Amino acid sequence: MASVGNTVSSFASKTKTKKKHFVAQKVKLFRASDPLLSVLMWGINHSINELSHVQIPIMLMPDDFKAYSKIKVDNHLFNKENMPSHFKFKEYCPLVFRNLRERFSIDDQDFQNSLTRSAPLVSEAQGRSGARFHTSYDKRYVIKTISSEDVAEMHNILKKYHQYIVECHGTTLLPQFLGMYRLTVDGDETYMIVTRNVFSHRLSVYKKYDLKGSTVAREASDKEKAKELPTFKDNDFINDGQKIYIDEESKKTFLDKLRKDVEFLALLKLMDYSLLVGIHDVERAEQEEVESEDNEGEEEGESDGGIIGTPPDSPSNTLDSAKPLSPGDFDPSIDVYAIKSHDNSPRKEVYFMAVIDILQHYDAKKRAAHAAKTVKHGAGAEISTVNPEQYSKRFYDFITTILP
Ligand SMILES: *[C@@H]1O[C@H](CO)[C@@H](O)[C@H](O)[C@H]1NC(C)=O
Repeated sequence: MASVGNTVSSFASKTKTKKKHFVAQKVKLFRASDPLLSVLMWGINHSINELSHVQIPIMLMPDDFKAYSKIKVDNHLFNKENMPSHFKFKEYCPLVFRNLRERFSIDDQDFQNSLTRSAPLVSEAQGRSGARFHTSYDKRYVIKTISSEDVAEMHNILKKYHQYIVECHGTTLLPQFLGMYRLTVDGDETYMIVTRNVFSHRLSVYKKYDLKGSTVAREASDKEKAKELPTFKDNDFINDGQKIYIDEESKKTFLDKLRKDVEFLALLKLMDYSLLVGIHDVERAEQEEVESEDNEGEEEGESDGGIIGTPPDSPSNTLDSAKPLSPGDFDPSIDVYAIKSHDNSPRKEVYFMAVIDILQHYDAKKRAAHAAKTVKHGAGAEISTVNPEQYSKRFYDFITTILP
């Protein structure tokens, strides 16, 4: 990369002070089952600390969208049971992502704590197969392992994405991109991107769907269905007779956001994204909680805030701030995608819905499809993929039909 923002040099000079870490580090260790995760924790700790010394600029400069910071650690002898002794950590566009975190109301210190206090957890819960997922230990953030093509695509769209987030004041159903990193261990490069979790950090999801608005080959495989929390698809949604019971106002707000979001994606020629839908059933979750408490025996203590004092069948007349954590309740500043079922819903539910997997570019897809078809049918064979504009319309129309 030819042009390197000034963050790079200021970061690079800091690497020489790394000896100090050996002394300061005694109290806390980054201990993850996977050395790669220890490196990620180390890197995020490092990066947020460094950024806290970098002044917040009045505005981002074009170079910030190409910048990166890099640190190479050799002979990291401390904590070597958990950490490789040689690794590299690169953060892409640190100032841009810091600015995005701010726009999504995420405090850098909290972000750092979520990702470093305890090791990230392996997660099956999100997105499509193939990619590796983790969540931060507190489930607020999702860490996805991505390809170098995804990193290139992120760079392609980052400026426009940032602009879009500025214009919509951070209210969007698009992924909230919060940091993008490259980790090098034993010469292997791994790319990771951190986003806000679509699902709740505390309300469990018992059913989830990945919807694209296409019915061709859109049902979960038997293998998928055998999983603890399978990802069901469009046809499953239709065949299940699944309903999303939200009131008119929530629906309007949701569809307004969605329409703007998919128009933006079509403009960027992105496609093949999905709507991730997660459903929390309030009664079912309470039941499960009771059962798991039974299994743990007669544990008294741990009164979880207001829940204990409330008889389970008392009318929930308390929407006041005193009991923010009663069943089915959520903090909308953390669970930003959550929508409550309306009052006439047959079940009390909470829905989590957002757009995921947006990094597929039409041209890249066409090229791949063309290559595949050329092999199969010879050059000149017709390519029958819908274009991003058609994709966005079909997607949006389908989603409107699932909200009755
Ligand atoms: C996190 O970073 C700070 C500042 O660079 C350092 O002092 C501390 O030791 C780091 N924590 C760990 C566990 O490495």
